[in-house]
Amino acid sequence: MSTDRLVIFDTTLRDGEQSPGASMTKAEKIRIAKMLEKMRVDVIEAGFAIASQGDFESVKAVAEAVKDSTVCSLARAADADIDRAGEALAPAAAGRIHTFIATSPIHMKYKLQMQPDQVIERAVRSVKRARNLVADVEFSLEDASRSEHEFMCRIIEAVIDAGASTINLPDTVGYGEPLEYGLMFSRLIAAVPNADKAIFSTHCHNDLGLAVANSLSAVRHGARQVECTINGLGERAGNASLEEIVMAMRTRKDVLNLDTRIDATHIVPTSRLVASVTGFPVQPNKAIVGANAFAHESGIHQDGVLKHRETYEIMRAEDVGWHSNKLVLGKHSGRAAVKSRFEELGISFETQEVFNEAFVRFKTLADKKHEIFDEDLQALVSDVRESL
Ligand code: KIV
Ligand code: ZN
Repeated sequence: MSTDRLVIFDTTLRDGEQSPGASMTKAEKIRIAKMLEKMRVDVIEAGFAIASQGDFESVKAVAEAVKDSTVCSLARAADADIDRAGEALAPAAAGRIHTFIATSPIHMKYKLQMQPDQVIERAVRSVKRARNLVADVEFSLEDASRSEHEFMCRIIEAVIDAGASTINLPDTVGYGEPLEYGLMFSRLIAAVPNADKAIFSTHCHNDLGLAVANSLSAVRHGARQVECTINGLGERAGNASLEEIVMAMRTRKDVLNLDTRIDATHIVPTSRLVASVTGFPVQPNKAIVGANAFAHESGIHQDGVLKHRETYEIMRAEDVGWHSNKLVLGKHSGRAAVKSRFEELGISFETQEVFNEAFVRFKTLADKKHEIFDEDLQALVSDVRESL
């Protein structure tokens, strides 16, 4: 079931919340879910209904509040989990049960203490049970990137026959390497006889800092759903970040060749909301949503951007919800940027000599201060005028 569109599945409210210290109240989850809906996220994973009474109520409340995105609950491959997820999703306009079981030898042997055939039996039973409750069932092979190809072929074929329409192959422990992880998709899609009846999905953790690269590689090799979180929030080092995936898809459409439905202008406000609700600040140099993501300080870059933005900008700040790009005035700034900021402040210079003196004083001040603000420039220019 390959499409020419990429499904964006946001799991900020489930895997993101599994980040130690990031738990959210029901009201906070509803606010974030409404922002994700406005952003036109396709699927919102609202929680893990059986995990606690609070999680159950949050999934239910999100299912009631959201109408334009599919609302999803996680469930282990166990009857009670699936029934609880189905109950929480009952009010949803479009509900999805996302059930999973581990498929790697290490997880089956030590964690599940189950034989591979028992794992397949449990997976099939769970998918069938979920299909009796909702029309849309996703199945995840937990720790897929450390699972064996032959075994994955068997379980995927069986769960698709049982009614799963999305097959997720998570890099649960962030172990994948982009080419190897991508090839896992193309090889499985080619080998599983009924693969065309499902959408294959990627879900990457960032333990080696490769979550976004691995996700994009999976897309290049046939994945048509990406699971991700706002600000890359998530277990341990986090999940693939939604904003990076969406903007990579858009900015490099020439090579990735798929559209998403996302309205990217809501990215920055949603990032801010998630940061304030969780208390996890966004690092200044974080791609897309960091305070410096569209800021230029060096004179050469500022001069280039003033002449033509695309000299140093591959995206427009306004397209992801920033007010504008930013030329930061500091010790690396050059004459062009300083002059342009003076002009924006309505300050013009009667002679070149006055500007030259102002620029010398600007550099002296910039050596003492990290950033020069508009008030500094205003004070500096009055000093120059008085002294000449
Ligand atoms: O990382 C993982 O394997 C998960 C699954 C439950 C999808 O979060
Ligand atoms: Zn995960």
